[in-house]
Amino acid sequence: MTAMTTAINYQDKIPNNVDLSSDRRLQRALESWQPKFISWWGEMGPTLRTHGVYLRTAVAVGQEGWAHFDHVELDKYRWGIFLAEPKANRRVAFGEYKDQPVWQQVPGEHRADLQRLIVVQGDTEPASVEQQRLLGLTAPSLYDLRNLFQVNVEEGRHLWAMVYLLHAYFGKEGREEAEALLCRNSGSPDSPRILGAFNEKTTDWLAFFMFTYFTDRDGKYQLGALKESAFDPLSRTCEFMLKEEAHHMFVGTTGVDRVVMRSAQLIREHDTLDIAAYGGIPLDVIQKYINFHYSVSLDLFGSETSTNAANYFTAGLKGRWQEERRTDDHQLISGSVALDKPNTDGTWSQEQVSALLALNLDLRDAYARDCLRGLNRWNTILAEAGIDYTFHLPHVGFNRSVGVYADHHISPSGAILDAEEWHRAQAAWLPTSEDLAFVRSLMQPVYQPGKIAGWIAPPLHGINGKPFDYEYVRLA
Ligand SMILES: [Fe+2]
Ligand SMILES: [Fe+2]
Repeated sequence: MTAMTTAINYQDKIPNNVDLSSDRRLQRALESWQPKFISWWGEMGPTLRTHGVYLRTAVAVGQEGWAHFDHVELDKYRWGIFLAEPKANRRVAFGEYKDQPVWQQVPGEHRADLQRLIVVQGDTEPASVEQQRLLGLTAPSLYDLRNLFQVNVEEGRHLWAMVYLLHAYFGKEGREEAEALLCRNSGSPDSPRILGAFNEKTTDWLAFFMFTYFTDRDGKYQLGALKESAFDPLSRTCEFMLKEEAHHMFVGTTGVDRVVMRSAQLIREHDTLDIAAYGGIPLDVIQKYINFHYSVSLDLFGSETSTNAANYFTAGLKGRWQEERRTDDHQLISGSVALDKPNTDGTWSQEQVSALLALNLDLRDAYARDCLRGLNRWNTILAEAGIDYTFHLPHVGFNRSVGVYADHHISPSGAILDAEEWHRAQAAWLPTSEDLAFVRSLMQPVYQPGKIAGWIAPPLHGINGKPFDYEYVRLA
């Protein structure tokens, strides 16, 4: 492959900054995948028909001014292949190849593992589009509708990012995996998405905000670890994806902010926490959504100890969060970390495990610390409204299906319970079918510019300097 260029070529059928036209075979292969992507988008993408959405499109990959905003037809969005600029003389930052030059091609002995990492990451991207496909029917405002579609088109582009790597570097097998990414579907009984959280339904807008807060944030940490990869094209792809991902988490953070603000307002106005009758979402329902979305997102980090994760690290395929800021040997030849384990008699014990084996735990801990920042924001909103209520992140062992907690029943405060106790209390901890039905009952579309649904506060700012009452989406 020839040298990468920074400018994005929008003349080609597939916009790119990887000089795609210089490699005819690759270009043809991707051009034959493109219509399959478009038909997947038509079948599994947003259901609401629109005549133009005010979207950003990447026009450069540099730090400044990379995005251009305009109304575009959703299915004419220019999905493309954008890699961050190469870093001169980049070297492997960790593992057994530490300090050697990074790889521009895939070493044979690491081919299978790299392909697996790319497929698993790639599988999450279209999954979220599928999960969110009905939400366009019930958005609380045109501003929110536009944000949903922005997230959707960028997750579609993230699929392109991974498919490019599969096509360009993994030969026939890579092309087959690229096809399979369009064949698995979220929640499909026959061919589900690879990871559990991506088979859950995103049934309402509170769930969407929680998903973009908690589950897109898992994406941020996975991409952050893959950005460290010795395989340079993967590193550069992830670096640019992270820029787009930041907006998805902004949608989640400020979305939950606005729900909490509106609930706080209704609580003050009616002097009761029981605001359902006034069309607000009660704080304990919000807490249950936090419990659910946080716990299923924790499962995405895998088992606390993992020989696969250790091997990926040693081989230089996947690093740690902010690898280069760490002050250890970057090889984890020695060193251990404490892992809290539940016992069947209801007590906790602590086990020392090798730091190399505990890399999933390391990444999950960084994620959990980051999640707390949202909780602090939401609690500040309540405190400023003078409301005596505090949101909590549940214990990491709560409601888990993966890792050392999977076979235990742990309460949000970290008490080890028996199955019966846990199930008796479950309705107080996780959204019940009544909670979900109530939240769904509030989800009525509000599509007049400048109007907002009654269960959420308007945003503090519009998009790209536009006012809230801007026509962000032109409806069909
Ligand atoms: Fe993504
Ligand atoms: Fe995302």
